[in-house]
Amino acid sequence: MLTVAVLISGTGSNLRALLEAARHPDFPARVVVVGADREADGLAHAEEFGIPSFTVPWHEHDSREAWGEELGRQLAFWNPDLVVLSGLMRLLPPALVAEYSPRLLNTHPAFLPEFPGAHGVRDALAAGVSETGASVIVVDDGVDTGPILAQERVPILAGDTEHSLHERIKPVERRLLIDVVRAIATGELALTPTP
Ligand code: GRF
Repeated sequence: MLTVAVLISGTGSNLRALLEAARHPDFPARVVVVGADREADGLAHAEEFGIPSFTVPWHEHDSREAWGEELGRQLAFWNPDLVVLSGLMRLLPPALVAEYSPRLLNTHPAFLPEFPGAHGVRDALAAGVSETGASVIVVDDGVDTGPILAQERVPILAGDTEHSLHERIKPVERRLLIDVVRAIATGELALTPTP
């Protein structure tokens, strides 16, 4: 059984979808812990599903490295096979990326390499394109630059706002994330170190 740690900052709707998938006996992965960089609303999902959680508050640390070291200590305790960043709005320090990548995934609300970064949905709208998408990638040293494991297009509709578009992208992100975690757990998808 593949063990997964999920790191969040926000409402954790993608986390919840993974928790729901993972509670089916035939799903080959289990979420063993949920971590956050703040008192994220999504931690309530962990509690509801009886999954342990921890918070490493960003603002209580002097540097990204100090925060990352504490995050690394917490993760090491749970020793997960896979770490999923699901709406974690912080860049991990290089040392932590090096420790877990390629067993470190991120979901992104755009069709990478289009619109990387913290405002992928807003940037797609501002660009005036007719479609964007959702991606699941391996985290590497860059910002949303790692190998793409799965992605799918999502159309942009007339009158879309950042919120309405993001809410249409998220179900696609969830489906892709669950499929990728399942494929990694079954061995159908092999994670190979990035050069
Ligand atoms: C997702 O779109 C994720 O890719 C992005 O933030 C959103 C998280 O949503 N970085 P939620 O917290 O899972 O509801």
